[in-house]
Amino acid sequence: MRVSKEELFNLMKDKLQKAGLKEDAAADISDVLTFADHRGIHSHGAVRVEYYAERIAKGGITNDPEYKFEKTGPSTAILDGDNGPGHQVAKQGMERAIEIARDNGVAVVGMTNISHSGALGYFVEQAAKEDMVAISVCQSDPMVVPFGGTEPYFGTNPIAFSAPTNDERIITFDMATTVQAWGKVLDARSKGNDIPDTWAVNDKGEPTTNSRDVHALVPVAGPKGYGLMMMVDILSGSLLGLPHGVHVSSMYKDLTAGRQLGQLHIVINPAYFTDVDQFKRQLSTMLDELKEQTPAPGFTEVNYPGERGKMRADKYDEEGIEIVDEIYDYLVSDDIHFDRYHGKNRFAE
Ligand code: NAI
Repeated sequence: MRVSKEELFNLMKDKLQKAGLKEDAAADISDVLTFADHRGIHSHGAVRVEYYAERIAKGGITNDPEYKFEKTGPSTAILDGDNGPGHQVAKQGMERAIEIARDNGVAVVGMTNISHSGALGYFVEQAAKEDMVAISVCQSDPMVVPFGGTEPYFGTNPIAFSAPTNDERIITFDMATTVQAWGKVLDARSKGNDIPDTWAVNDKGEPTTNSRDVHALVPVAGPKGYGLMMMVDILSGSLLGLPHGVHVSSMYKDLTAGRQLGQLHIVINPAYFTDVDQFKRQLSTMLDELKEQTPAPGFTEVNYPGERGKMRADKYDEEGIEIVDEIYDYLVSDDIHFDRYHGKNRFAE
């Protein structure tokens, strides 16, 4: 099924409002989800609406949250999300961070007590569109073995980075710190396919190719990804006085309770370090130079981080965004949710 950006946004917004959210919150979540689907990050788009709707309906996302913004220093702040929708809190947190960095050169804003916030690229791009550089990191539920371990400890803890150029291109690097997202394992399972032995381990900590035998995901690049996911956990958890590692709440265990997740935005205003136009020109030159390389065998060109998402978005603007039929049918239906997620094992389908 192919839908326009506007139709997808409106369908998701309506569903989230019917589940119990106020219009502005439903709109902010839907904007972040549309951003993801539009760039081909379908793991963080419309596929999540039914889960959010169930959580909202069951009280695990506060319907009428009272956000508390506290400036804790010239460049630092905390935005307590009252376990409201993470997408909205993270978006507002970035707006605040941009304001602070405009006045002080740098901003570090922590979001506390939030629910899942989706694709982090959305938030760092807010800053790049204002000629700033941003990093955002957040916690997610434990499903990854530490390097050398056998039990899930950290989440897929993503890192996003964005920077402006002096043309329409935005550099957006946005990745989970695992080799592969959990959604890709589910996809292999649903098709009865094996997975590469580099994605996940069984309950003995051995690499597995059986998509039904997955006990945990593995960090990207072994000890390096492990170190990065620990860094993310410290920056968006312990640093903000929130639970750490294996104590981070599960996505599915109890949909009636707030998740108390954390996220951290770091925004740097280039104007405090260099000439902004020269900085942006230099990044454009960097992307041009990369494009001039002779592609390696099997490649047609060198892409900059975020470019493939941009290419996908351009294609979808012409052809419509591709949405799984089942998800579309749910979005246009009167159903709010099907009680599918509460208490679900995180490694179940
Ligand atoms: P991915 O593996 O699809 O892409 C990672 C990065 O590599 C992107 O910046 C992409 O632009 C870049 N890239 C991909 N192919 C490239 C190529 N050929 N040349 C140059 N650059 C290329 O992303 P991943 O790890 O699957 O993450 C997907 C999304 O999931 C992200 O938006 C992330 O924020 C989100 N996420 C959110 C979580 C949460 O709890 N909120 C948890 C984990 C992930």
